Amino acid sequence: MQENRPIIALDFASKAQIEQFLAKFPADESLFVKIGMELFYQEGPAIVQFLKEQGHDIFLDLKLHDIPNTVEKAMKGIAKLGVKLTNVHAAGGIQMMQAALKGLTEGSNGEVPMLIAVTQLTSTSQEQMNQEQKIPGDLLASVINYAKCSQQAGLAGVVCSALEASAIHQATSDAFVCLTPGIRPSGSQVGDQKRVVTPALAKAYGANFIVVGRPITQAVNPYEAYQAIKKEWNGEE
Ligand code: C5P
Repeated sequence: MQENRPIIALDFASKAQIEQFLAKFPADESLFVKIGMELFYQEGPAIVQFLKEQGHDIFLDLKLHDIPNTVEKAMKGIAKLGVKLTNVHAAGGIQMMQAALKGLTEGSNGEVPMLIAVTQLTSTSQEQMNQEQKIPGDLLASVINYAKCSQQAGLAGVVCSALEASAIHQATSDAFVCLTPGIRPSGSQVGDQKRVVTPALAKAYGANFIVVGRPITQAVNPYEAYQAIKKEWNGEE
């Protein structure tokens, strides 16, 4: 599957800033947006409600990681918010991921949100992984191991670099989804992202969802930037 809308990372600190940003889009266009910790901890669940009322689909990116019972209860609450997609850290273990799914299923009163896992954060270096987490070997092997654990737990997929997507599909299945940030249209600012790929390359590598922040949020004309990225992602150029 491929979600044809790029997910826009709403990395803003307040609802007011989001309103200002979304005013640049046609009112009747349904977007897929990502709410992360920064915004959620400022504005709370009301921000999810607000964006849903505007007709948008939500990826609630809170990366839960705790004991299974706590994660299950938290996910029950998240399911009630009616988000489309949410996530946990695969490092929490298979049992925790299963508990997360259980909470989502029990808490939802409609469509059960899709659950994906973060494998190794892209901010983690191989050296850090080897020395601090005491996981030997290379980073990709750990990413693939976590992807397999997530699949075993019944999750729908993982957050990963587009560069890892084809290896992950090979180790899991075509249906196991790869959601990939670190997307930059050619010629744009890379910012603090290190390993970036274009929307077209992400598609070629087998990404199922792309998450795009600054190339849209910081653009002079965000709607134009969004449309161009969407076109490239859908192979329409
Ligand atoms: O602005 P930019 O396109 O780099 O934003 C990417 C978004 O994806 C940010 O919200 C960032 O936190 C998130 N993200 C990421 N890399 C990951 C996981 C999430 O860039 N591995």
